[in-house]
Amino acid sequence: MTTAAKYAEFAAREAHGVSPTYERLARAVSRDEQVLALLGTLPPIKRQPNLLFGVVRFLGGPVEDPAAFHDYTVENWPAIEAEMRTRATQTNEAGRCAVLLPVLAALPQPLALLEVGASAGLCLYPDRYAYRYGDHMIGSGEPVLECVATGVAPPASVPDVVWRAGLDLNPLDVTDSADVAWLDALIWPEHAHRRARLQAAAAIAAAEPPLLMRGDLVDDLPALAAQAPTGATLVVFHTSVLYQVPAPRREAFAEVVRGLPGHWIANEAPDVLPYDALPNPPGAALYNVLALDGTPLAWTRTHGQKIIWFA
Ligand SMILES: C[S@@+](CC[C@H](N)C(=O)[O-])C[C@H]1O[C@@H](n2cnc3c(N)ncnc32)[C@H](O)[C@@H]1O
Repeated sequence: MTTAAKYAEFAAREAHGVSPTYERLARAVSRDEQVLALLGTLPPIKRQPNLLFGVVRFLGGPVEDPAAFHDYTVENWPAIEAEMRTRATQTNEAGRCAVLLPVLAALPQPLALLEVGASAGLCLYPDRYAYRYGDHMIGSGEPVLECVATGVAPPASVPDVVWRAGLDLNPLDVTDSADVAWLDALIWPEHAHRRARLQAAAAIAAAEPPLLMRGDLVDDLPALAAQAPTGATLVVFHTSVLYQVPAPRREAFAEVVRGLPGHWIANEAPDVLPYDALPNPPGAALYNVLALDGTPLAWTRTHGQKIIWFA
């Protein structure tokens, strides 16, 4: 797919109905020969809308007005390029815990959680957040993770987590203000609720930082899994990670994780893991597939705002 097509698809399938600002901007970039030519100097993996828009916001540039964005990007390309080459999209969305919760709560307790592609580890605290599924509240305090759940009964309580560890190529540190500023820049412009959620979740993680290891989800997973306490159910999980991993490495990862004790939860785009059959997606918007031990269970919206259990 060309870079122009990727920006047009991002506008139509990811930003549409979620961020009018990014929808407008991505459409403009998809037709902007000058910005597309600059993006063409980067490796393909570095040309993504979320990375470009996040870097411009991180540097204090304008994203509301596509014309101002164009001028800023062209004038400040050396600084933007340098950031795009060193940074990656590491959006850490605690809201995704709301779609993991029904599966986590149904497993034998207590749990030892190991997240691969953990970013700053904010999805490692599903037991510390509060949830609202329609009228059904679970837990108390902040952040409250709102989720529309269809075809699945929300759990009665949060899981019992006795160990939490994360693995990431580039772990971010919630106690480092520059790392939190980057996570903030990755949040889409209109999403004040997600910004507030980031701050609240980061405060929870900072009070009891998780064990976060720098490493690769294939090569370094067995050693970290071996540190999990006995007497707890090991749960290896990942959300919105495998699209960043080349296909042969995804296959290698699946093989490694299948060889571990415990359970495996994947919450990923439908095309990154080989499922025999999936029901039709609920609409044109981008949905992830939630799966337990390789069996697909539900469609989920990418920031955890909706879960639709398969019939
Ligand atoms: C989009 S973020 C998602 C973070 C978190 N899972 C969430 O849902 O909020 C993807 C993360 O996967 C990490 N990642 C990508 N490839 C990886 C690999 N081969 N091994 C470990 N982490 C990886 C990235 O560094 C990044 O932090």
